[in-house]
Formats: sequence, C-alpha cells, structure tokens
Amino acid sequence: MQKHKVIIDTDPGIDDSLAILVALNSPELDVVGISIVEGNVPTDIGFQNALKVLREANRLDIPVFLGAKAPLQHEYTSAQDTHGMDGLGESGIPNVTNVEGPTVLSAQAGYEALLNQYDDVWFMALGPLTNVALSLQHYPDIWHHVSRLIVMGGAYKTNGNTSPVAEYNFWVDPDAADYVFKQSPVEIELVPLDVTRKIVLTPNILQMMAYLNPEKTDFIMKIMRFYFDFHWQQEHVLGAVINDPLVVIYVLHPEIATIIRKYVTVVTTGVALGQSIVDIADFWKKPANATILQDIDAKRVMAYIVGGLLGNDVDTIENELNMIATSLERLS
Ligand code: BDR
Ligand code: CA
Repeated sequence: MQKHKVIIDTDPGIDDSLAILVALNSPELDVVGISIVEGNVPTDIGFQNALKVLREANRLDIPVFLGAKAPLQHEYTSAQDTHGMDGLGESGIPNVTNVEGPTVLSAQAGYEALLNQYDDVWFMALGPLTNVALSLQHYPDIWHHVSRLIVMGGAYKTNGNTSPVAEYNFWVDPDAADYVFKQSPVEIELVPLDVTRKIVLTPNILQMMAYLNPEKTDFIMKIMRFYFDFHWQQEHVLGAVINDPLVVIYVLHPEIATIIRKYVTVVTTGVALGQSIVDIADFWKKPANATILQDIDAKRVMAYIVGGLLGNDVDTIENELNMIATSLERLS
C-alpha cells in the first residue's frame, strides 16, 4: 500500500494527542514530522506532550519541531483551563528525557528539510496557523510540495467556543489564519466547529474502549478525566468534544462528510476577532479558497476514531456503539 507522507502541526493538547495517535496507527499514513505551535499550551509544553504521545505509540523516531511561541500580532492566550496546565489533563505522565538524535530543529527548518525531500505531502494543521503563515511568508516555494492542507478551525454557521463567533485556533492567531486563507497555494480543506462539535467522546464509550483494549486505553483514560470535568462544568455535557481527530478521519474517509466550496476570510480586528466568514451566497464574487465540511456521519466517525486508537475494525466498533445506545434507550 502506498503511504501518504504527512506533517502534523499541532498544539497538544488532549484532542490533538488523540489525533496524533489515530494518524500514527493508520496504515495509510506515514507521519514524517510533527511541528508544535503555541496554542492550547505554550510551545515548550506542547513539544514535551508530542514526545509523550510518540513514546506511547513507540514512535520516538519521528522528528518533533519547535515552532512559534506567540501569534503573529496578538497577545497569546493558552487554553490550559480546558486542557490542564500540562496540556494533557494534569495526568502526571512523566516527561520524555531519553530522546537521542540531532539537535531539535525549528518548525521552519523542519518544513524546509521535509518538503524538499518529499512530494505530495498532506499537511494537517490542528492548532493556530502561526507556523503555517510564517512558512508561507518566508519559504513560499516549498509549499508546492504540499498537495493537501487540512485545517481544524473556524465556525461556519455555529457559535464559537472562545467568543460568540470565534473558534479557538482562529481566535488565538487571526492574522495567521487570514494570511493562510489568502496565500495558500492549495485549497484549504476546513474542518470547522460545526462538525467537530458532533464528536463527543463519552465516559461510556471510553469504558467500552477499556473493556476492548485496556492497555491501549490506559493513556487515553489518564488524559480524558480533566477534559470530561471541564465539559461538565462548562457546558453540562457528559463527555468531551474531541475536535482534532476528525481531520485525520476525514482525510482517510472523505465519504463521511458533505462539503461545499466557498470563499473564506478571517476577521482580524474588533468585536468579531477570529470569526471565519464563509461567503455562502457569493456576495464578494471571489473564487473559492476552501472546501468546508458541512455535515458528517458522526457515529461512523466515532467508530473510525475508536477503531484507529485501538486497532479494531470499524464495523465491529460501530456495532459496539449501537449496543451502548441501546442500553440507554432501555430507560425510555
Ligand atoms: C481547537 O482548539 C483546541 O482547543 C483544540 O485542540 C482544537 O484544535 C478547537 O477549537
Ligand atoms: Ca488543537
């Protein structure tokens, strides 16, 4: 099987960590590098978390690059209230101290090295777009080696999760997001909050995972507790929205989504800071610069995520999910 080369730019982050694990477990993907951007946690903490995830997957051979520590222009705000001070749900997972190999490269140097080496690279952006914008500004030529740029960010018709209208990744660095929509040589595939919000990992799904594969679920259980507590206290949701893994699932199984192609821009000042505006009715007469996920088959996506994390077949997991649903229906 031909494996697609993948670079993941990320701010791990609980849901980022799940996305990385799913990507690492996908036989169709070859993750050739992971770059860290400021976001859920400061870059140095995100760097350590990527190493923890790689150790968990026994893939410490994959290079991790240190990226931007602050947004292009705005002041940086982390999401440690959501992901914990350590970014992994205050799980106490020990640092990785035994990494061997060359000195850590910057994200920009890492992209240059990888993109000059490979063609047809799929680039997944799971955090604020600062690293991507800086690369497009300073090294535009290497982006011709990227065939797909898939971005988790923005809110298309739904409300934001950081302001009434803004999603976190775009809100943290709206200038970078706006720049990337304007300058990317490949059409962005946008995975917005509208669809990621449907992916709620509940305590009973997690327990099911532990029954099916206790060893692989242990790490996930450790990092999810804090995320569950946050969602309960904040939104009275029993379970946690896991945004980023949908990027990986969509890339591998595009049939799970319906899409539209439109022109998108991001607001960089004022009360709507970070809002993604999708010109649905073509007022601006600009060519589409994004493919936007409109709707998804959420149960199938969850089955792919769980199957990807545990190494189980998707149909088996979907049957298990149906069983869980049935047990709740007995109350009706
Ligand atoms: C995005 O923000 C972060 O908290 C998540 O990791 C995700 O990438 C959702 O708004
Ligand atoms: Ca993220």
